[in-house]
Amino acid sequence: MVLFPFLGAFVLAATAVHVAGQQEGFLSIDCGLDARFSRRKDTYTNIAYISDSPYVDGGENHRVAADQESSTNDVSLLTLRSFPSGLRNCYTLPTESGAKYLVRMEFFHGRYDGKSSPLSLQFDLHLGTNYWDTVTLQDTTDDWWSEAIFVAWSSWVPVCLLNTGTGTPFVNTVELRPLGASLYPDVTIDESISMYRRANMGGNFTLFPDDPYDRYWGSETSSSWANLSTKKHIQQDDNSVAVPVLVLQAAVSTINNVIVLNVGTWRVYKRSFEFKFFLHFTDIQNTQLRRFDLYVNDEQWLQTYSPPYLDISYIYSSAWNKTTDGKYNITLAASPTSVLLPMINAYEVYNNIPHDTPRTSTKDFDTMMAIKLEYGVKKNWMGDPCFPAKYRWNGVNCSDLTNNITRIISLDLSNSNLTGLVSDNFTLLTELQLLDLSRNNLNGPIPYSLCKRNARSLVVRYESEEDMCKKQ
Ligand SMILES: *[C@@H]1O[C@H](CO)[C@@H](O)[C@H](O)[C@H]1NC(C)=O
Ligand SMILES: *[C@@H]1O[C@H](CO)[C@@H](O)[C@H](O)[C@H]1NC(C)=O
Ligand SMILES: *[C@@H]1O[C@H](CO)[C@@H](O)[C@H](O)[C@H]1NC(C)=O
Ligand SMILES: *[C@@H]1O[C@H](CO)[C@@H](O)[C@H](O)[C@H]1NC(C)=O
Ligand SMILES: *[C@@H]1O[C@H](CO)[C@@H](O)[C@H](O)[C@H]1NC(C)=O
Ligand SMILES: *[C@@H]1O[C@H](CO)[C@@H](O)[C@H](O)[C@H]1NC(C)=O
Ligand SMILES: *[C@@H]1O[C@H](CO)[C@@H](O)[C@H](O)[C@H]1NC(C)=O
Ligand SMILES: *[C@@H]1O[C@H](CO)[C@@H](O)[C@H](O)[C@H]1NC(C)=O
Repeated sequence: MVLFPFLGAFVLAATAVHVAGQQEGFLSIDCGLDARFSRRKDTYTNIAYISDSPYVDGGENHRVAADQESSTNDVSLLTLRSFPSGLRNCYTLPTESGAKYLVRMEFFHGRYDGKSSPLSLQFDLHLGTNYWDTVTLQDTTDDWWSEAIFVAWSSWVPVCLLNTGTGTPFVNTVELRPLGASLYPDVTIDESISMYRRANMGGNFTLFPDDPYDRYWGSETSSSWANLSTKKHIQQDDNSVAVPVLVLQAAVSTINNVIVLNVGTWRVYKRSFEFKFFLHFTDIQNTQLRRFDLYVNDEQWLQTYSPPYLDISYIYSSAWNKTTDGKYNITLAASPTSVLLPMINAYEVYNNIPHDTPRTSTKDFDTMMAIKLEYGVKKNWMGDPCFPAKYRWNGVNCSDLTNNITRIISLDLSNSNLTGLVSDNFTLLTELQLLDLSRNNLNGPIPYSLCKRNARSLVVRYESEEDMCKKQ
């Protein structure tokens, strides 16, 4: 690894081990799919898609209009779930706490509601409690996807759709892909990133199985770019980005001896004007010297760079790039000594997902999910139990914050159709001061450990008998 601290860029050379193709741990949800058709396989990727009913409580199932089906060749997009009621609706995805994931939600309207184009629809997505993306659909045939990379902070991760008053939110697929811990090393429990663009320059649209992590690599071509490609093997042994070989085998350069390659210009209107760039290079020609300088907004980022021959290398922003207007462009300019023109194989651009909203403690959230599942609680129990405050779960009250984390201090489950025994799971809410279980069909004793753990302060209401713990 060669470090250019003065430029704020890292150039990473080949070092580590090969990442084998895998599909283990993929969760692929086809929203709105009738449970009878669950485990339907995608014809291209051969990934099995399942019904969304175990992961979501609200919403309605729909199917795109028959005459719109030809607009997509992706069968999982043909059904969807829409959320006409409730300001926030969430899918709650099972995760392994501390593991790194890619989550993707895909949106194709297809006139499911019988309305005609043009469409002007916007709604927000939250990852846990934090703003992730704004879905913007101009037309019923638009295909939008949002992707985030994050480290799971609990055994469940909610992804939420928020109605912002500009149309009914809906979603066609929700996909969760485990990434190795070594991928995207900047992503930690305190930093999540949202994909802005991921491009396969001069190549075709690429996904699983060519990308074992099922990232989408969009095709970018232009009549002012020369298309380069090779069938030669490319050393793919840096597992911090793991760009698919197929993506690296294509590249673009300039035509007509133009010495400056405009990789792209971007403008974000999102709440965060912060960007991170990953530029992927491998020289597939190597006939003569190729050397170029790299600029972000006309400011030199890296000087006299030579991509290695048939070996991957990448350059990325080690810190967030910020501009006040959200405008960026990247250009590559041939160095005076260079014989060959600048080239690039692929790039990725990400936005910061600001972690600016507190959340419920991991243990309390996991426990609340266990209680919800154990009793089949039917309430607005979606997303984080405490935050954002206006979506707090019914019957839940939360403590003041410590390090932006809250604890659950009261739980009112009275008159909630609970049946069975009083669960030991309640004992795991160790900060609880009030637990109201009255007016249900519960039986059996209050677990001894429940009173013991919280003996000083916990009040349990159970079948109209007040303060059960103190009586025992
Ligand atoms: C893109 O796909 C077309 C059609 O399958 C194929 O002919 C072409 O070689 C592909 N291009 C690259 C760069 O792989
Ligand atoms: C490169 O390929 C794209 C897509 O096939 C095409 O539109 C473009 O004109 C090609 N570039 C050149 C210089 O031929
Ligand atoms: C790139 O950004 C700089 C600074 O904002 C601007 O002067 C320049 O015109 C831009 N170039 C392109 C190709 O958009
Ligand atoms: C982008 O970020 C790098 C650090 O990663 C910094 O060196 C560079 O000046 C930034 N450029 C702009 C235009 O913000
Ligand atoms: C809590 O969140 C706010 C907003 O993101 C942040 O400024 C602050 O540093 C955080 N506090 C702690 C203790 O993490
Ligand atoms: C907690 O609830 C889960 C169901 O979500 C159940 O499998 C488990 O046995 C319960 N644990 C305790 C300690 O009651
Ligand atoms: C929630 O707890 C706070 C104290 O933290 C209290 O002031 C408030 O009244 C409680 N709200 C409900 C609905 O119990
Ligand atoms: C309890 O269940 C009954 C019958 O299934 C239902 O009618 C009622 O609305 C439920 N009450 C609550 C509070 O969920």
